[in-house]
Amino acid sequence: MALKTALLKDSPEGIAKAAAVLASGGLCAIPTETVYGLGADARNDQAVARIFEAKARPHFNPLIVHLPSLEAAEQFAVFNDAARALANAFWPGPLTLVLPLREGSGLSPLVTAGLESVAIRMPAHPLAVSVLRAFGGPVAAPSANPSGKISPTRAEHVLGGLSGRIEAILDGGACGVGVESTIIGLTGAPVLLRPGGLPAEAIEACLAAPLAAQDAHAAINAPGQLASHYAPDALMRLNADAAQSGEVLLGFGAVEDAAINLSPSGDLVEAAAALFHALRELDAQGVRKIAVSPIPMHGLGAAINDRLSRAAAERP
Ligand code: TXA
Ligand code: MG
Repeated sequence: MALKTALLKDSPEGIAKAAAVLASGGLCAIPTETVYGLGADARNDQAVARIFEAKARPHFNPLIVHLPSLEAAEQFAVFNDAARALANAFWPGPLTLVLPLREGSGLSPLVTAGLESVAIRMPAHPLAVSVLRAFGGPVAAPSANPSGKISPTRAEHVLGGLSGRIEAILDGGACGVGVESTIIGLTGAPVLLRPGGLPAEAIEACLAAPLAAQDAHAAINAPGQLASHYAPDALMRLNADAAQSGEVLLGFGAVEDAAINLSPSGDLVEAAAALFHALRELDAQGVRKIAVSPIPMHGLGAAINDRLSRAAAERP
């Protein structure tokens, strides 16, 4: 089921086509000043699920949301004084801010991996800005490489890794910065979550304060955060053929009596897109025990099972 990946040119038509691909729920790689990003509409669960599928990511780590202005960014995140100072000083540019998610943001929970924070950045590449403006919405974009491979800094690198898996690549030549953005966590005291294209010293000078250092991956895997944001309140039992007494069934495929079925047709992209909504919904209903149908391990099944086994394991 390989797609024909279109190579779009740096032209008004290329920009319009890239925006149209995003608007239709497709995947389009776009150049930024750091690396090429694999873009999708950050409000569209199915489109965001396809990012993980195309990259063959074995787990759902949160993605950066790209926006063309501070004004647009404020619709999705809550900015405090430090956040606004950094945005004013360094945006557009290779700086990502992790901020409290704004209530009612409309972002897919797959973008934030169910967290209550969101990573936002305003890229400086003129083509990226043009596509963001033409599209007119938030674009989720991890680096446009298969999981575990080196980030792409030219359209040919993207083609080499993702051809046949995404709708389009907008060719903007070589990326100027060549390494990913610096990520600063601002949900508490400012912390350096990932060193990157903007030197930490410049950020410390702007804040007139030192940055604590913390690995982004360690941060989002910290048990406290996982317990409060990742796990449903209900107990989970995985690989269940049917619900036992006192359980409700979170189904997958052709099963009977599911309270919610992640994908009756057994489509793993559809199931990934539905996963976080389903867990939240069952929690909202006050469900105490969730039995989950077996989910195959191929494709997005690996990431879904990773997420489910964390939810099943984490109990304070
Ligand atoms: O330069 C870049 O930042 C590129 C271009 C395309 O913009 N994007 C990029 O995305 O490097 P990605 O998905 O490869 O890396 C995103 C990083 C991950 O390490 C993730 O853990 C972290 O951002 N992240 C995203 N949301 C987060 C959150 N709410 N809390 C903590 N870390 C977060
Ligand atoms: Mg990456």
